[in-house]
Amino acid sequence: MSETTRDKHEPIRVGVIGVGRMGARHAQNLSGAVAGAKLVAVADPDEAAVRRVGDELGVAGVYTDYRELLARDDVEAVVIAAPADTREEMIAACLAAGKHMLCEKPVAHDLPAARRVAKMLEGAEVTFQLGFMRRFDPAYVRAHRLIREGVIGRPVFIRLVSRDAEGPPLGFVGGSGGLFVDSSVHDFDLARWLMGSEVERVYALGGTFVYPEYAEHGDIDVGAVSLRFAGGAIGLHDNARKSGYGYDIRTEVLGTDGAIQIGYLNQDSVVLLKNDRPGYDYVPDFLARFADAYRLELQHFIDVLRKGGTPAVGVEDGVRALEIAAAARASLESGLPVSVASQHPVGAADAEPKELEVS
Ligand SMILES: NC(=O)c1ccc[n+]([C@@H]2O[C@H](COP(=O)([O-])OP(=O)(O)OC[C@H]3O[C@@H](n4cnc5c(N)ncnc54)[C@H](O)[C@@H]3O)[C@@H](O)[C@H]2O)c1
Repeated sequence: MSETTRDKHEPIRVGVIGVGRMGARHAQNLSGAVAGAKLVAVADPDEAAVRRVGDELGVAGVYTDYRELLARDDVEAVVIAAPADTREEMIAACLAAGKHMLCEKPVAHDLPAARRVAKMLEGAEVTFQLGFMRRFDPAYVRAHRLIREGVIGRPVFIRLVSRDAEGPPLGFVGGSGGLFVDSSVHDFDLARWLMGSEVERVYALGGTFVYPEYAEHGDIDVGAVSLRFAGGAIGLHDNARKSGYGYDIRTEVLGTDGAIQIGYLNQDSVVLLKNDRPGYDYVPDFLARFADAYRLELQHFIDVLRKGGTPAVGVEDGVRALEIAAAARASLESGLPVSVASQHPVGAADAEPKELEVS
């Protein structure tokens, strides 16, 4: 239904494609927690799952083929939460059907596909928002504002820690693009956004320590990536599929006049982290830690659709983050620092440290 035929007081009718861990949460949020939106359809080839979500949320439009959902004229916008390797085909179909999209990260499971998606969306008349929800998390929003206001001076170093409590099942890993593409993209996006600078070069190390089966898909379960930014600032990111002690997301930005830490700090400075014994305040998973962010990113999407404007996170942000992830992968494989622009290893001469531009 077009803007001209819909009464502006009516809610935006939304369909959710893929109702697994993430899609089910988006569907719940759209059923009452997001002003101006109405969930009218869900689609997933897993019939039992899609029926369960449809029944729980009282949604009449339940489909095992997402194309049937797209064929509905009254569905104006969709949330795409199917696996990353279905993305390109699905975004093309949504585009052809004229649906606005809030699409889960990553843009695609690899960089060439992500670039094709970005090309496909060039000049599109529909709105496309990417699900980098950390940009909507109140703590990250505040930190970003303080950094932009210059409260810590010029940012010179960023540390980004990402640890899931448990790794995803093997079935998910195969279509995910791997640790850097699937998970570290959140941190690479935060790095660009918080530092206000593009990542120029990366050097990555990684290994498969906890889930040997991930190696079947060429994936790792612990990775570390050093970052160098265009303005000369530096950073470190580490990521683990399994902490065993909870969902652990921490970021610190060091500036010339202070530092900002985003995460959880306890009164007692001794923190004992024993696997499977949560005798302390802990965050179980991303759905708990970023509950507000998932709701607020959807609210932002719906507000843009209702009031006009451009989403704060677009496909280009997704491509930039994937370029960093792909360079990290190339570095892991070559054992050499890799240029984000060329995706090729850089020689020793190029690897000379840069003078930091201090303004
Ligand atoms: N933003 C975040 O914090 C966050 C967190 C988790 C997952 N994700 C992203 O969300 C997406 C889904 O991840 P998940 O953890 O929910 O995975 P999941 O495996 O739990 O769920 C994926 C669902 O998609 C369905 N599906 C598969 N092919 C489909 C198709 N052709 N059409 C419709 N549905 C299809 C599956 O049956 C399954 O129910 C991934 O891209 C992932 O990267 C984002």
